[in-house]
Amino acid sequence: MSPLFNAEDSIQKILVPKEEIEEITSRLAEQISRDYADDPYQVVLLIILKGSVPFAADLMRKLTIPVQLEFMKVSSYGASTKSSGEIKIHLDLNRNDLQDLDIIIIEDIIDTGHTLNRLTQLLKNRNAHSVRTCTLLDKPSRREVDFTPDYCGKQIPDEFVVGFGLDYNEEYRSLPYVGVLDPRVYSGS
Ligand code: IMP
Ligand code: MG
Repeated sequence: MSPLFNAEDSIQKILVPKEEIEEITSRLAEQISRDYADDPYQVVLLIILKGSVPFAADLMRKLTIPVQLEFMKVSSYGASTKSSGEIKIHLDLNRNDLQDLDIIIIEDIIDTGHTLNRLTQLLKNRNAHSVRTCTLLDKPSRREVDFTPDYCGKQIPDEFVVGFGLDYNEEYRSLPYVGVLDPRVYSGS
C-alpha cells in the first residue's frame, strides 16, 4: 500500500452517508431495545468479524437494554464450490451454554444469504434460546437462499460497496460512510 493511498479517490459515489448511518443505528437500536425490553433471558450481540465492528459499536451504544458481546469470524464457501452453503468458522464462540441466550447476530451486509442462513441454523442446533439477525445493509437481488433478516438498516442495489467496516482486499474498512467502489479498482485498469 502506497503511503500516498487516498481511499476517497477510489469511491465512485457515496451510497450511505454518515448522517444516514447515524439515523439507521438509532432506528434499529430503538426497535431492538423495544423488542427485548423485559426479556428474562440474556441478550447477546454476536458480532461477526471483521466487517460489522463499526456498525456494532455504534448500535450497542444506543441500546437501552443490557447486552453481552461475543464475536465470531466466519466465511461462506459461496455457490461455486461443491460445499456451497457450508460456512467456514475461523473463530468460534468459547461457550457452549447457549440455552439461556437470546442471540442477535450483527452483520455488515447480506448478499447471497448463505452466511447468515447457515450461522443461524448452527446456533439453533447448539440450542440457543433464540437467534435473530441484524444487518446494516442488504442486497436482496443477490439472494441464493430464502433468508430475511429480522432487522435491516438499508436495502441497496447490486453494487460492490466499501467503507464503514466493509472491505475490498482488507482496505477501506475505516471510511466513515458506505460508498460504491470504482470498478477500475478491481478490474485493474
Ligand atoms: P453472503 O450473504 O453469504 O453472500 O455473504 C455476505 C458477506 O459477503 C458479507 O459479510 C461480506 O463479507 C461480503 N460482501 C458481500 N457484498 C459485499 C460488498 O458489496 N462489499 C464488501 N463485502 C461484501
Ligand atoms: Mg463479511
